[in-house]
Amino acid sequence: MYNSVFIPGKNWTLSLAELIAFLEIREYKFKILSFSKEYFIVRFEKKIDPSIIDGLGGIIKIGEIKATFSTDILDKAIVQKDKPSKKEIENIFADTTIIDDLISSTKKIFFGVSVYSSEKRFRKITKASQRFFGSIIKRKLSEQGQKSRFMGFSKDRKLPQLSHVEVLKKALISNNAELIIGIGKNKIWVSTTKAVHNPFEFQKRDVYKPIQRKIFGIPPRLAKTLINLSSCNQGNSLLDPFCGVGTILQEGLLTKSKVIGVDINPWCIKSAERNLEWLSKEYELTKPDYRVLQGDIKDLSKKIGYNEIDCVATEPDLGPALRQIPTTPYAKKIIMKLDNLYSIFLNETYKVLRKDGRCVFVTPYLKTRSGQIVTMNVDEKAKNIGFRRVFPFQRENFEKISSTKEEIL
Ligand SMILES: C[S@@+](CC[C@H](N)C(=O)[O-])C[C@H]1O[C@@H](n2cnc3c(N)ncnc32)[C@H](O)[C@@H]1O
Repeated sequence: MYNSVFIPGKNWTLSLAELIAFLEIREYKFKILSFSKEYFIVRFEKKIDPSIIDGLGGIIKIGEIKATFSTDILDKAIVQKDKPSKKEIENIFADTTIIDDLISSTKKIFFGVSVYSSEKRFRKITKASQRFFGSIIKRKLSEQGQKSRFMGFSKDRKLPQLSHVEVLKKALISNNAELIIGIGKNKIWVSTTKAVHNPFEFQKRDVYKPIQRKIFGIPPRLAKTLINLSSCNQGNSLLDPFCGVGTILQEGLLTKSKVIGVDINPWCIKSAERNLEWLSKEYELTKPDYRVLQGDIKDLSKKIGYNEIDCVATEPDLGPALRQIPTTPYAKKIIMKLDNLYSIFLNETYKVLRKDGRCVFVTPYLKTRSGQIVTMNVDEKAKNIGFRRVFPFQRENFEKISSTKEEIL
């Protein structure tokens, strides 16, 4: 059994749902042992390739668990400054490969420690824990004659955590030189970072593609998340019926799926084509499979045919770009205007999707001046057409029966 830690992005429930869908469709054998806003612990039957991070929009870091011990011991070591507990943790470290993995040919090892606590009451000990773990490593390295430098933080840093950009810039992955410490209610998880999200690659696809659409374009990371939530895998057909300049299609091509884009706007179609051509060259894709068609959503099934598509991931029209927070009546007007478009979209998508296909889409969510949230009731519409809503957190994927719906939502 191999345990891994996953550090999610800001919207952690979305990240968890994406991760589960990604692992399920690729038939990984896994169980979620623990999850929180800060980190997920996942047990796998086989060792995973950490480069899967490039296929995930919502995961920031992946680490390999090297040791676990009880939270009580850390609490005693840090809060009560209990010497035997400190020694116990040091011995636990000595029993792992963490130090050996760090020893390199370089004269001086540069390493960092990031601490994440899922428990509010332990947040106050994260900074002290970070220094404590750093000093253990430094001492152990020095015992082996290895000089090292611990990457400390300035006092004003709120959380003792290295960002993925820092890990990348300091090249900490190749030297196994970042430790992730997860402080949970009962357990401490010690791991070595094996991969981090590469924002520069996503940025390249976002701002260096030939044609961009600043306000209406979806960020590539979110596009990736939608694709994963649609359970899209290599070889599947993926449709974006509101493709714009093709951001979702781009991410779909990188998943090696057969992508089809439709948009009413001829300029979007030309732009999406150019962007996909660019992506295919830039990423040296062999036989990229894409089609982009101009058309109105109302004619979708006529254009695509019935039961042709495995997955739909899309960002339909979300209404006008707003310069200021709308009033509630104005927000309601926007939603009312879009209502028919969403009905047609769901009807047509139902026809083109295979019976076991999945459709994932973004809906408008407007916060108004009075603090009210105005959204569209798509659930009812979709249900009436025949769609079944998927709950992404199924019990069988979790170690503990209790850690499902109630805890997540
Ligand atoms: C929010 S944008 C999608 C942007 C896209 N995700 C991107 O990254 O470029 C919505 C798109 O829906 C298209 N659209 C609006 N009404 C449509 C309709 N009736 N049929 C097909 N496409 C439509 C617009 O032209 C626009 O490109």
